[in-house]
Amino acid sequence: MSDLSRARVLITGAGGFIGSHVVEAFLTAGATVAAMVRYTSTGHRGHLDHSGEALAAERSGQLRIALGDVTDPFQMDTVVAGHDIVVHMAALIGIPHSCVAPASHHAVNAGGTLNILEASRRHGVSRVIVTSTSEVYGTAQTVPMDESHPLCPHSPYAASKIAADQLALSFHRAYGLPVMILRPFNTYGPRQSRRAVIPTILAQVLAGVKTIEIGNLTPRRDMTFVEDTARAFVLAAAAEGLEGETVHFGSGEALSIGEIAEHCLRTVGSDARVVAVAERERTADLEVDHLECDASKAKRTLGWEPRVSLDEGLRRTADHLRAHPEGDRVGEYAV
Ligand SMILES: NC(=O)c1ccc[n+]([C@@H]2O[C@H](COP(=O)([O-])OP(=O)(O)OC[C@H]3O[C@@H](n4cnc5c(N)ncnc54)[C@H](O)[C@@H]3O)[C@@H](O)[C@H]2O)c1
Repeated sequence: MSDLSRARVLITGAGGFIGSHVVEAFLTAGATVAAMVRYTSTGHRGHLDHSGEALAAERSGQLRIALGDVTDPFQMDTVVAGHDIVVHMAALIGIPHSCVAPASHHAVNAGGTLNILEASRRHGVSRVIVTSTSEVYGTAQTVPMDESHPLCPHSPYAASKIAADQLALSFHRAYGLPVMILRPFNTYGPRQSRRAVIPTILAQVLAGVKTIEIGNLTPRRDMTFVEDTARAFVLAAAAEGLEGETVHFGSGEALSIGEIAEHCLRTVGSDARVVAVAERERTADLEVDHLECDASKAKRTLGWEPRVSLDEGLRRTADHLRAHPEGDRVGEYAV
């Protein structure tokens, strides 16, 4: 479906960091969007409560919010019905937390995906995009990494995402479900949880902290600004002929956490020091040392390339943090 202005799109995980930007990108493309946000008794809708575009689209009828839980197969059957495209992003994403709560990560990430796939099959959805993660590869065995890189989960989180991906691919093979896997490398930008490395560093520096304590400085990560990530989802929804395919995307540059921290300090003109502290380090087996994306398939099949440089993305993330010094509070406990 190349014309998204006629498309009825369901997005799960829509109140989250990336999901809220993906909702905005589909609204901009003209789609009619149902945004599924995890139900909580607060009634908050995560970051969508702070998105001017989302609030305006809700008023005009272009956006509808559905509160629910992907682990509920009966509800997913109702929520998926009537949509042409399903973008499935809902997940529990805590890598260390998945080590203490592996069953809930498996239930949401693998079980929730199974419910979405089954409902999509029953309701004849014409494209299902399942959101994967570069964590499925573990530490790079060859660089840059292309989609044929071996899978090696270091955490129950990564294993649950592999399970979800493989279920999706099996639904394509077994039932012909028109599913594709879209696999972002690390994403950063406005609305990201302050537990993630870039917002952690920037928020502390902006608060005047002079010694920033983080975990290991040596792992290398390939960072994409969230607007570039969101654009990949819109391109994937509109692209023809990617059924059963996996496409990943990233900047193609792997910087160490120490180098990323230096960029953060430069962005806000700070003379703070960044130090590694043992208690914040992940254990050696859990840590993924190197992720570096070969995005040539994304360029060839989706026409996707990153547009926002790291320094520009950091500047925009810092601007967001300056504008919300108290944190995205409602977003944080509702998502
Ligand atoms: N942030 C990254 O760098 C990154 C990189 C690669 C892939 N991803 C993937 O992108 C997706 C979005 O991640 P994010 O960083 O925006 O995280 P996030 O935590 O901000 O968003 C995840 C959303 O899923 C929702 N959710 C969790 N459990 C749910 C349930 N049982 N039912 C319904 N909704 C539920 C949460 O409420 C949240 O809004 C995830 O699938 C993640 O694995 C993220």
